[in-house]
Amino acid sequence: MITGKYPNLRLRRNRKESWTRRLVQENTLSPNDFILPIFLIDGSNKKESISTMPGVFRYTINRVSQIVDKAIKKGIPMVALFPKTKNTLKNDLGTESLNENNLVCRAILEIKKKYKNQIGIMCDVALDPYTSHSHDGLIKSNQIINDETIEVLINQSLLQAEMGCDVLAPSDMMDGRIGKIRKALDSSNFKNTQILSYAAKYASSFYGPFRDAVGSKSSLKGDKKTYQMDFRNSDEAMREVALDIKEGADMIMVKPGMPYLDIIKSIKEKFKIPVLAYQVSGEYSLLETAINKKLIQKNAVYESLVSFKRSGANAIVSYYADRIDKILE
Ligand code: PBG
Repeated sequence: MITGKYPNLRLRRNRKESWTRRLVQENTLSPNDFILPIFLIDGSNKKESISTMPGVFRYTINRVSQIVDKAIKKGIPMVALFPKTKNTLKNDLGTESLNENNLVCRAILEIKKKYKNQIGIMCDVALDPYTSHSHDGLIKSNQIINDETIEVLINQSLLQAEMGCDVLAPSDMMDGRIGKIRKALDSSNFKNTQILSYAAKYASSFYGPFRDAVGSKSSLKGDKKTYQMDFRNSDEAMREVALDIKEGADMIMVKPGMPYLDIIKSIKEKFKIPVLAYQVSGEYSLLETAINKKLIQKNAVYESLVSFKRSGANAIVSYYADRIDKILE
């Protein structure tokens, strides 16, 4: 790197006025950079607030178009659907995940009927919203059983693809699931259904408000450390990503977001694949409550979102996406 020397070189010169700061700006944000998560609930005509996530709501199917409409008007390219399954529908095997009348399936149909391809739909592939133990996979003798779980995930994937889901996002962290899901999609005529692999997903303490939002918090037995990654590791993330790319992943998710900017950067540099960052529920709630309490300035949100772009992310899953116009102002 060539640099000069003070006093010939004064880096403050390029920052002296707004116009020159704008001129040398390296990273910017646009609505195209965002994915909006949407929480779904059963019932009719409800928009329910979530105490742990101020400003975020759960929607019934007949009100989901309200929020999707907003996303389309603001230029957001994709929404991500997350169901809060009724406890009475949960069981050890997560069979509600394969019910074509479940919340996610009904929401996909509703959105696609109304908006066609004006907006993309992404759905998680994992069992935690459907299992009574709230784990992402099936359990046998106290172990999350990998290969048997994949068989269910394949069927969940095929069902969601059939309903019209555009992007399947396996967030379960089972070994080998991307390849098997890709193969099943291809042989069932879903060659164009994209796979966004949560390849670098960490066993994190930042997911609390999300688990509250989907109603899996109190029922979760133990932790997810035998399948989600140890947050002390980064080489392991590169191995996960390399495998998933080989198996057919179109895009990679890093999750959580802000504490893992180094992982985003390394994946981008090494693999040159679309990398998405998930600014998770805990990050959202921290920012939002601190802003509401006036502990930090509002613009902290914009700053946090730009950090993802700076680290190399192509797009960001953020609970702020529905308010992105105000944030970019
Ligand atoms: C489930 C899933 C989780 C999140 C997205 N998909 C929680 C978990 O793994 O326990 C968390 C998202 C957030 O915290 O915003 N596989």
